[in-house]
Amino acid sequence: MSQKKIVLASNNAGKVKEFNALLSPLGIEVIPQGLLGIPSCEEPYPSFVENAITKARHASKLSGLPALADDSGICVNALGGLPGVLSARFALSDQKKDPTDTDNNELLIQNLSGINDRSAHFTCTLVFLNSATDPEPLIAVGHWHGEIIEKPQGLSGFGYDPIFWVPALNKTAAQMSPEEKNAVSHRGQALRKLLADLSSKIAQ
Ligand code: IMP
Repeated sequence: MSQKKIVLASNNAGKVKEFNALLSPLGIEVIPQGLLGIPSCEEPYPSFVENAITKARHASKLSGLPALADDSGICVNALGGLPGVLSARFALSDQKKDPTDTDNNELLIQNLSGINDRSAHFTCTLVFLNSATDPEPLIAVGHWHGEIIEKPQGLSGFGYDPIFWVPALNKTAAQMSPEEKNAVSHRGQALRKLLADLSSKIAQ
């Protein structure tokens, strides 16, 4: 595959880094939409797939490039699936207009205080479109199961990684190297599912 530019419908530095690591070996250059002056769009829908399609369409329309969008989040069983689609802005309030990862993590720990069931999963829905009017978006989903711990551990990754404990690996997502995380994460799984179809679609 020759070098191909696609716009990433996100400016989340953590996601940009992970996608570049996964896609640059395949000759795909991932350009975060912010570098093209594209503002982020509203994500008003209750499902990941609707938000991902909306983000991909917006980025493709404004850039004229094929677009990849990722809508992802963490779903906690004891909280009925929250924060879910609200993961990035879980701690949003009148006092905190732009909550940080630390704010979100602290609120999640607080909401789980005294609760025994700590099970949770990350979910990632990827959408790839050749253009804003592409009638056949590629869609792939990945899940990653673990538990929410009370004290953050580890410094890598982003978002909820420091409080996401993966029993099989005996560490949090933030204690994994980028390669280790990509090999097992929701995003890595979704991208591997997307890739087979992506190579033929991107060549169109
Ligand atoms: P989105 O940009 O609306 O898709 O929000 C995704 C949010 O989910 C991020 O801001 C993080 O809070 C959380 N999230 C998604 N994927 C990950 C991950 O791999 N590690 C940690 N947090 C994640």
